Amino acid sequence: MIHLGVNIDHCATLRQARYRDAGRTTGGEVEPDPVTFALCSERAGADGITVHLREDRRHIQERDVWRLRESIGTRLNLEMACTPAMIDFALKLKPEFVCVVPESRQEVTTEGGLDVVGSRDRVRACVEAMNAAGIKASLFIDADLPQIELSAQLGAPFVELHTGAYANAYHSPRRGAEFERLRLGCERAKACGLTVNAGHGINYVNVVEVRTLPHLYELNIGHSIVSRAVFTGVDEAVREMKARMNA
Ligand code: PXP
Repeated sequence: MIHLGVNIDHCATLRQARYRDAGRTTGGEVEPDPVTFALCSERAGADGITVHLREDRRHIQERDVWRLRESIGTRLNLEMACTPAMIDFALKLKPEFVCVVPESRQEVTTEGGLDVVGSRDRVRACVEAMNAAGIKASLFIDADLPQIELSAQLGAPFVELHTGAYANAYHSPRRGAEFERLRLGCERAKACGLTVNAGHGINYVNVVEVRTLPHLYELNIGHSIVSRAVFTGVDEAVREMKARMNA
């Protein structure tokens, strides 16, 4: 069975659109609450909850992450930039997983994979700190063989292959080539001893093909589930995604 990590960032995006100070505010009128979204997701079968605490705090706030740490019953996956401040934060928080992602202030959402080859020393230090603390580190990378191989050499137990290029090409002639690139990436990652996750841009349509990639452990899916939940509620949105992932 492929696990589902529900990324709740965009629930917080919606909240921040109205309540900029939500990180410091309590009270039931501050809607929508990402922690409630997480608990509803778990009830509907999510295997884990993913949040990206961005440097500019544009959606998830530190307070959200601490509340999640106290309240969820599955496992917490903290997406984070490879910076000393975020490494310190993760060591205090002790999530079950971290996913190291590249971060640039201009992007609307994470756009490309982490350049492990170009920043090997920083990534190595981060992976070593997480391994020493018993936190499982995943590196969010494009399905490029040198990035995959180096991720394994640096001691990361997981990679998350970036499915964004595939998702963008879904309705174009490039789709087959992007899918093949992901397939080869999954095979190589498995051969290197890595556990393989995938994420970004996965929706209710393309998931039916994504799920046929070999060796998948988990898909991290956010935007499409939060969007669907507006109409159906969280419960149905999560159940439907899990059903499509594992049909
Ligand atoms: N995985 C990673 C590493 C991400 O950065 C994101 C986007 O924040 C996702 C998965 C989820 O992407 P989407 O919201 O497009 O499902």
